[in-house]
Amino acid sequence: MYVCLCHGVSDKKIRQLAIDEGITDIKGIKKCTALGTQCGKCIKPTKEILAETEYLQIKQAS
Ligand code: FES
Repeated sequence: MYVCLCHGVSDKKIRQLAIDEGITDIKGIKKCTALGTQCGKCIKPTKEILAETEYLQIKQAS
């Protein structure tokens, strides 16, 4: 599903950046994808995806 419609960034891409590249903050995601640099509606859902991904990683590690 697309999270950032302005720049065509999907939830899959955000998770991939978080897991594979260790980019877990909005600033880093913005740098890599331009997400959130137009209307900004995608910032909140992206934060939720990052938090959920971090939670799942911690859960899997324990
Ligand atoms: S939806 Fe991401 S900047 Fe508009």
